[in-house]
Amino acid sequence: MLKVLCVCGARPNFMKIAPIMHVLGRTAGVRPLLVHTGQHYDEKMSDLFFRQLDIPEPDINLEVGSASHAAQTAEVMKRFEPICLEHKPDWVIVVGDVNSTIACALVASKLGIKVAHVEAGLRSFDRSMPEEVNRVLTDAISDMLFVTEPSGVENLQREGIAGPKVHLVGNVMIDTLLRSRESAEKSDILARLSVQKGGYAAVTLHRPSNVDDPGAFGRILTALETIGRDMPVVFPVHPRSRKNMSQMGLNGRIERNPSLRLTEPLGYLDFMKLMSDAAVVLTDSGGIQEETTILGVPCLTLRDNTERPLTITQGTNRLTGNDPDRIIAAYREVRDRPRRPVRPPDLWDGRAAERIVNILIGANR
Ligand code: UD1
Repeated sequence: MLKVLCVCGARPNFMKIAPIMHVLGRTAGVRPLLVHTGQHYDEKMSDLFFRQLDIPEPDINLEVGSASHAAQTAEVMKRFEPICLEHKPDWVIVVGDVNSTIACALVASKLGIKVAHVEAGLRSFDRSMPEEVNRVLTDAISDMLFVTEPSGVENLQREGIAGPKVHLVGNVMIDTLLRSRESAEKSDILARLSVQKGGYAAVTLHRPSNVDDPGAFGRILTALETIGRDMPVVFPVHPRSRKNMSQMGLNGRIERNPSLRLTEPLGYLDFMKLMSDAAVVLTDSGGIQEETTILGVPCLTLRDNTERPLTITQGTNRLTGNDPDRIIAAYREVRDRPRRPVRPPDLWDGRAAERIVNILIGANR
């Protein structure tokens, strides 16, 4: 019996771990265990996703909660080590690039447990992003690296990570998107927000470089206010951004503008529907750049770099940084340009999790 311990901790991990858990759950000879680190814990940042994505209840919740990077990472490590010692898994699977990813990979690696990293090799080449540090370090200690796009394989090669442990398998987050499209179509989120298909912009913001700095947050708001004169701007607000908006005294400015429609963080299905029917999506998220590429919706990424270059070369993504003039110019261009049909990147076909599980099982024969 192959014992596989899967780790998830923060919102973007849930759509990645879901298809892996589904495939492991129906594979003979495998015993999956799910550990939730508790990095994200609000109902709308966590439990809602488990229900909507049919993720089994975690076998263990480490309940670490929020803290500084060092304290959060250390707490995950302290609480994860005894779990590994007790369950002695053959593999630990970590996904993405959050603090829980590196924390659990490091614990397993030091205990001599094999680590598989899903979404390996992505690089923004910007070490001021906490996720970039997490990616580089996790890849350096992983025994199996599952990559979503060709740039990831090249990045790993450049760092001396190559050979049979690197596998281009596609994108597990797109597995989840394709599986959920029909259910998402049924969401009534547009009616609830009083917006029309194709007649609004959808925004998400949570990167420290955009929302921890009042100058940057203010510049983005200026752009959103201009877009708001053209069409409503729907903005589901991440807890980090919500906290900063009040601390920076931005609430009044936002509330006075009827075009800015702020909501609580949305569940997966509502958010998928909101993105699918938007005229344009503005974001600083990593995953949303990939989801909009598959949905064929124009995406303006309010960052200066992306670790997902395929979304630019083959998808609908475009980098604007957080300068209002650049954001507005790009917005006008995509608003006025007819949409082209989408050609999904190779292997972004809904079967990435199957490939991952087959490779892991093959490696243990
Ligand atoms: C984390 C990830 C980031 C990912 C993002 C997705 C790291 C380094 N960052 O950033 O890569 O893109 O998740 O959302 O791992 N909070 C709540 N409720 C929650 C969770 C957080 O209120 O359920 C608040 C807390 O005040 C917390 C803050 O949000 O301090 C930030 O949470 P944290 O997990 O530290 O980082 P994120 O910004 O969410």
